[in-house]
Amino acid sequence: MELDMVELVYDHPIQYKHEATKNAIEIANELFFTDMSTKEKDTQFCLCKKWQYSKFFLINQDGSIPLLTSNANDLSIREREHLKMAGFVLLCWKEEMNKLQQLWAWLMVNRFVSSSYCTQKKQRYVNHKCKKGETVKIPSNEVILEEKKKRIEVLCRAVGVPETKKSIIINKLCDGEFKHYVLTYDNILKMTAILFSIRSNLPTVLMGETGCGKTALIKYLACATDTELEAVDIHGGIDKTHIYEIVKKCTERLKPMAHIIKSKRRKYQCNSKEIWLFLDEFNTSPDIGWFNELICNRSLDGIKIPEEIKILAACNPYRERKLSAQDKVWSEKDRLAKYVYRVLPLCETVKTYLWQFGSLPDLDERQYILEMIKNRKKELKGSLQTEFDNEAPFIVEQICKSQEFVRVKLQDVAIVSLRDVDRCLKIFVWLVNTYFANTLDIRQCLVISVGICYYYRLNSKERREYVKVITTKDIHFLKILEKERDKCCKNSCFEGDIVYLEILGTSKTLSFQILKDNMCQSEIENFRKKD
Ligand SMILES: Nc1ncnc2c1ncn2[C@@H]1O[C@H](COP(=O)(O)OP(=O)(O)OP(=O)(O)O)[C@@H](O)[C@H]1O
Ligand SMILES: [Mg+2]
Repeated sequence: MELDMVELVYDHPIQYKHEATKNAIEIANELFFTDMSTKEKDTQFCLCKKWQYSKFFLINQDGSIPLLTSNANDLSIREREHLKMAGFVLLCWKEEMNKLQQLWAWLMVNRFVSSSYCTQKKQRYVNHKCKKGETVKIPSNEVILEEKKKRIEVLCRAVGVPETKKSIIINKLCDGEFKHYVLTYDNILKMTAILFSIRSNLPTVLMGETGCGKTALIKYLACATDTELEAVDIHGGIDKTHIYEIVKKCTERLKPMAHIIKSKRRKYQCNSKEIWLFLDEFNTSPDIGWFNELICNRSLDGIKIPEEIKILAACNPYRERKLSAQDKVWSEKDRLAKYVYRVLPLCETVKTYLWQFGSLPDLDERQYILEMIKNRKKELKGSLQTEFDNEAPFIVEQICKSQEFVRVKLQDVAIVSLRDVDRCLKIFVWLVNTYFANTLDIRQCLVISVGICYYYRLNSKERREYVKVITTKDIHFLKILEKERDKCCKNSCFEGDIVYLEILGTSKTLSFQILKDNMCQSEIENFRKKD
């Protein structure tokens, strides 16, 4: 939509209505009449991509104009002023990305993570000169929180949070479960697009690589829209009976809300009136055809579910991976082993409703990792927290390096994800809480955790290269790791049998395979599976 539309909106409303309708039809055409097979390689939401590179308005159901997305270079200063006066929020992708890139470059070089630096100096920003001569503005914690609130405000406007609820919702999104959620502008657009789809009563299916933030995003959006979310992790052990029971429970919960549902006036405001049933990782279930009916037709064995239960679903892509000779032997016995994810192919109807998340952009991943690390601090014993603060920059750096190395070497974006980061941090926290001061220091704990999560996944040549990348002046990575491995081998009690508990969907086969591959390759012999 062109800029003179701003005047058009106010001075010529009928003409504006025509223009807006024309744009809506264009977007609809693009979204729903594109051949899905051509979209497969598209790693971004196609709608968001369009928003990022065009000038146009998003209009709420109540007629307010909450947000304008734009590439700054397309607008003159005068035009920007004009838009600000008209109450638009201006998002400029290039500027945002540049700012982030500079900041991260600086953080990585200086091993500096939090903005405690500015806080000490009691300044909102500290100007720092990089080696290349560029000046980077490092924001204080106060500025970071303000920026976060500004973004949440944009999100609230985009999803139409009523003024009366705004402050409660902003507080919820800044603290507790969501304290460490990084709300990028890209996430705001994705949430807006998803909400459009839910409000249009369309099936909403998110597809993306593991750990790219699908589940976290839906949870955040549900909180922002004040909607009840019933999230179900689908796996082999969840069958029809479970889903029937869950739908029944949701229907029961909806009954007391019936009077609100009838009130049309509140139809598009925040929703105490609907429940989102989120079927996470539904393509892991052998009942995929049945889930297809629930998602696309909104019915269970032919019986419609209440309209107020909105169905959302998430899944990982179904694609083959590169197999090593050893993998090929393994995959003969296990038909899903040749795929990147242990999932089943989607039905054609579901494919029509896919929102492609693709993989996480590098800069976003770094921000998420940083927040994930900060989030773990509270799990450490009190006295260790200060120590942890000092080492946080080092931890970020080592984990980011490991993610990048494994991804490049194993040539697949999905080979590592935030799930690996999460795993690595879990091990790290456990090691620190159990062994710190006794036998290991913080850096040694980190070496062992990245060793387990990254190093042991590589072949011997890759391991040598990885060690070069990860070793620092004061930390001899391999020495620490080998010492721990030897200790572990000496104390191990693998002489007897290992019995796995028969709990469905808990990755028993996979964990056995990992254990077996690594133990057989190294010092422990005779570790074999007896069927
Ligand atoms: N915007 C974000 N800010 C901070 N951390 C995030 C963000 N998005 C995701 N994460 C973190 O990344 C990890 C993986 O996210 P999430 O579980 O949402 O991914 P997913 O796409 O659902 O993965 P999967 O396909 O494996 O289910 C979580 O630990 C989550 O806390
Ligand atoms: Mg998930």
